[in-house]
Amino acid sequence: MKTYSVALIPGDGIGKDVTDAAWQVLEAVAKRADFALSGKRFPWSCAFYKETGAMMPADGIETLRSFDAILLGAVGWPAEVPDSVSLHGLLLPIRKAFVQYANIRPHRLLPGVEGPLRARNFDILCIRENTEGEYSGAGGRVHVGTSDEVAVETSVFTRKGVERILRFGFEQARLRRRKLASVTKSNAQKYSMVFWDEVAAKLSAEYPDVEVSNYHIDAMAARMVMAPESLDVVVASNLFGDILTDLGAAIQGGLGFAASANINPDRSCPSMFEPVHGSAPDIAHLKIANPIAAIWSAAMMLDHLGERAAAETIIKAIETTTSRGIGTVPGKDKTDAITSAVLSALA
Ligand code: NAD
Ligand code: IPM
Ligand code: MN
Repeated sequence: MKTYSVALIPGDGIGKDVTDAAWQVLEAVAKRADFALSGKRFPWSCAFYKETGAMMPADGIETLRSFDAILLGAVGWPAEVPDSVSLHGLLLPIRKAFVQYANIRPHRLLPGVEGPLRARNFDILCIRENTEGEYSGAGGRVHVGTSDEVAVETSVFTRKGVERILRFGFEQARLRRRKLASVTKSNAQKYSMVFWDEVAAKLSAEYPDVEVSNYHIDAMAARMVMAPESLDVVVASNLFGDILTDLGAAIQGGLGFAASANINPDRSCPSMFEPVHGSAPDIAHLKIANPIAAIWSAAMMLDHLGERAAAETIIKAIETTTSRGIGTVPGKDKTDAITSAVLSALA
């Protein structure tokens, strides 16, 4: 029997609760399928940082490399460790080291979920560049603390990076409704975003069957609220995609519903699956985090591993749960109650 090894990094705050929930669902699905899962838990988090002085051990990346996939909860506990330290010590290095350049985030309404919009029939796949752009990490500060202080943070857009994420978007569009929205800001950013548009235009010649539209990021934000049904695949740079996908989460009813997959498309390294949301310190002690985003992300993991039927089973169980009105309103149901409902919907 095929066994997939999964590195579990629950992280901080509600990350622990939602990872537990997702793992319970994965184990239940595997029990009735013809594959097995072996999970290994890593305590890497802000608490680990407080103990050891690092978010993960020096050989953390090498340790993760041998796994088939990584399931992550959330990283960050800003009251104890600055976000700029914790995220650059764990989540962001994994995305970069494992060349998980495509961050895929689906946004659609689950049955039974109200959502804040009148529009109900949207089905958007946001594809966010995940290794460079505004998150390049290139920059610095000089004359620190003086009135002459300067802070610079440079966006880096490479032809390789822009081409591969847009190509990934075109390929996804071919599997869906053949519409690709390229998110730009070339009216203001006359180097990086003009370059982005040029690459999109050049690639579109290779995909004559895909209808391409260019939207400035500000207009896209409005469109996702006013006309989300007009969108299919949306491709954006790292920061633009980050912001748009919290908006995507909002229109699908809340951050508790937004799943994501950090994909290494050539499979040279493990991919990582995690909800869009963070550690939610405001509710972390209440045990009311919605685990659906994490469970959906776990389904994306099985899909990536080639276990499409099992992934579909999980999505169906989530839909059964929300159509029964369980987990549909943020804060109404406990994490455990939502997880139990998904588990019984599986059965
Ligand atoms: P957040 O996503 O943690 O929370 C934003 C709001 O959404 C909060 O009100 C929270 O209670 C709510 N929320 C989030 N997930 C929910 C869920 N599953 N169920 C119900 N409500 C939910 O964003 P934030 O407050 O900006 O960040 C908190 C910490 O998490 C920070 O340290 C931040 O850097 C980090 N963060 C980590 C990740 C990640 O690890 N992928 C993502 C985003 C933020
Ligand atoms: C996300 C998160 C991260 C990001 C943060 C925590 C660095 O917001 O995965 O959306 O900006 O990528
Ligand atoms: Mn984000």
